[in-house]
Amino acid sequence: MRDNRTGLEYDVPITDGTIRASDIGQIKAADDAPGLAVYDPGFVNTAACRSSITYIDGDKGVLEYRGYPIEQLAEKSSFLEVAYLLVHGNLPSKAEFEQWVHEITYHTFVHENIKGFMQGFRYDAHPMGMLMASVSSLSTFYPDAANIADPDSRHLQIVRMIAKMPTLGAWAFRHAQGKPYVYPDNDLSYTANFLSMLFKMSEPKYVGDERIIKALDTLFILHADHEQNASANAVRSVGSTQVDPYSAVAAGVGALYGPLHGGANEAVLRMLRRIGSKENIPSFIEGVKSGNERLMGFGHRVYKNYDPRARIIKGAADDVFEVTGVNPLLEIAKELEKIALEDEYFVKRRLYPNVDFYSGLIYEALAFPPEMFTVLFAIGRAPGWLAQWLELTQDKEQKIARPKQIYTGERTLAFTPASERWA
Ligand SMILES: CC(C)(COP(=O)(O)OP(=O)(O)OC[C@H]1O[C@@H](n2cnc3c(N)ncnc32)[C@H](O)[C@@H]1OP(=O)(O)O)[C@@H](O)C(=O)NCCC(=O)NCCS
Repeated sequence: MRDNRTGLEYDVPITDGTIRASDIGQIKAADDAPGLAVYDPGFVNTAACRSSITYIDGDKGVLEYRGYPIEQLAEKSSFLEVAYLLVHGNLPSKAEFEQWVHEITYHTFVHENIKGFMQGFRYDAHPMGMLMASVSSLSTFYPDAANIADPDSRHLQIVRMIAKMPTLGAWAFRHAQGKPYVYPDNDLSYTANFLSMLFKMSEPKYVGDERIIKALDTLFILHADHEQNASANAVRSVGSTQVDPYSAVAAGVGALYGPLHGGANEAVLRMLRRIGSKENIPSFIEGVKSGNERLMGFGHRVYKNYDPRARIIKGAADDVFEVTGVNPLLEIAKELEKIALEDEYFVKRRLYPNVDFYSGLIYEALAFPPEMFTVLFAIGRAPGWLAQWLELTQDKEQKIARPKQIYTGERTLAFTPASERWA
């Protein structure tokens, strides 16, 4: 590298297609000047870790967990097996899988005080706010979680977190409806139990339709990890302080709450409702093109040709609509997609439907209010967050996350006390 300011040249090694930011820190305009740094808002071209969890090739539309293509996992695996894969790095043997399912099932219940804590929320509390708070409250119920150097403790917290997410998510849903919270039914599978906690009323046992259970399980698989996205980055950033995993995952839930991340499917539904009918699509598209708003569910930081998860979700949507009947908003969504895919504005910017474009329609068909969509995403994403956190805790190269800044404010002003300024 040649520094144009000084004319000096430096050798900066390239490893795995990257240069080390610390290596360019040696480049200085003068001996006492600060070292050269990179400016990268949103970390669009900065690797913050080495990871062996999820591989994405955005141009080719490839997504793999631990090397297994998402299409195969969505078709042939189950959410708990995928969770095992993400956390452990390999597929389980029969005995390992049975033990894993047993452990997760055993930990689905939460302390009764968590129930009281959740009941304290206002009647109209957003379920993501309730989820974020209840996830972080787990750190107070399990103070042993602070012992992040102990592999057995780490494993126990991971199991607890994956096991309790559906319970917390379902209770946040029941809360908004003013319905009693339903305790876990540990005879049921992970996803069937979640449906029971959501929808059971006076019947002694609630068993959902197999097609719905399978579709929801598939949606959880599709959401299980997505390498260094905003919420994984939040989990890693907070986790880098060596706080307990519940606090780190709560930060991930917070990041997911935002409309540009997990809140997008909720925004898609609101957008489709606002459009109302096919006739209004052209004027809506014009509004998007003139920069008034975004076409929610379109575009992705990484996928620039198509989102492989969007294709699988379309298939899951058909299965769900077979049970529930077709969602009338589907027609608007399909037409919107058709028009946008042909329009130069979207083609030029390589904007394609992402995972959120259709997931909202499925969730609505399953009678979830839009506020719940991101909660479903969070339940699916929990194993990914935990796998990222686990990897971080064992990565010797990691340090507390502490980016640099370019300071643009005033310097060395003389302070006048308020009594003089206001006199
Ligand atoms: C996902 C998203 C945040 C990625 O953003 P990004 O990688 O930072 O891309 P940018 O914001 O730089 O967008 C690049 C260009 O495409 C446009 N664009 C991106 N997404 C768009 C959308 N959904 N609708 C309309 N225009 C969009 C931007 O306005 C920009 O245009 P410009 O070059 O004329 O300024 C963005 O596409 C978006 O907001 N999508 C809608 C929200 C959504 O569905 N999120 C879920 C992601 S899974």
